[in-house]
Amino acid sequence: MASPMPVTRSASSRPALSSFSFDGVTAPIVRKLCGRRDTRRLGAAIARRLEPRDLVVLSGDLGAGKTFLVRAIARALGVVGVVTSPTFTLVQEYQTARGTLAHADLYRLLGSGALSLDDEVARLGLREMRAEGAMLVVEWGEGAIDALGGRPALVATLAISGASVRTVTLSGPSANDIV
Ligand SMILES: Nc1ncnc2c1ncn2[C@@H]1O[C@H](COP(=O)(O)OP(=O)(O)O)[C@@H](O)[C@H]1O
Ligand SMILES: [Mg+2]
Repeated sequence: MASPMPVTRSASSRPALSSFSFDGVTAPIVRKLCGRRDTRRLGAAIARRLEPRDLVVLSGDLGAGKTFLVRAIARALGVVGVVTSPTFTLVQEYQTARGTLAHADLYRLLGSGALSLDDEVARLGLREMRAEGAMLVVEWGEGAIDALGGRPALVATLAISGASVRTVTLSGPSANDIV
């Protein structure tokens, strides 16, 4: 079998804000979010793209901005009440004009208890909610993608790059439509 052609790229030759495709595999898109306003804009762009049954997986360290981004998505979908972190409740649901937005945070389930993460997620019924048409946004969901029903529309990984600067890496079929 022929080995894949090596791709070498210097920082300067990398396309800045767009993605590129190589052998049908789309590379992740990396963007700097220089302040909360940029993150709110990203949330609005994600919201525009969200459809019933979509799964959005958010990863990144504590304080990276996952909940902040979900709040921006919810606001852009017209949610007016409080959008809290579901770290303790695990799942929050919001009714929007485009259907249910379910926001889950699996942090408390990571490495906890007797059940595997997949089993814990199965107990939450998130896959079923999605099958019924909910848009599902999951913090710390990267380890449970199959249990969440698979095929995320978007995986966004946030990293802290400064007091109010974040770096986001976007992949998945919707990534190109968002930036
Ligand atoms: N550019 C930015 N994008 C998102 N959050 C930011 C940004 N700059 C500062 N912050 C702050 O970082 C914190 C992110 O917290 P949170 O969203 O709860 O993180 P996580 O859910 O990833 O643990 C918030 O206090 C938010 O105000
Ligand atoms: Mg959070």
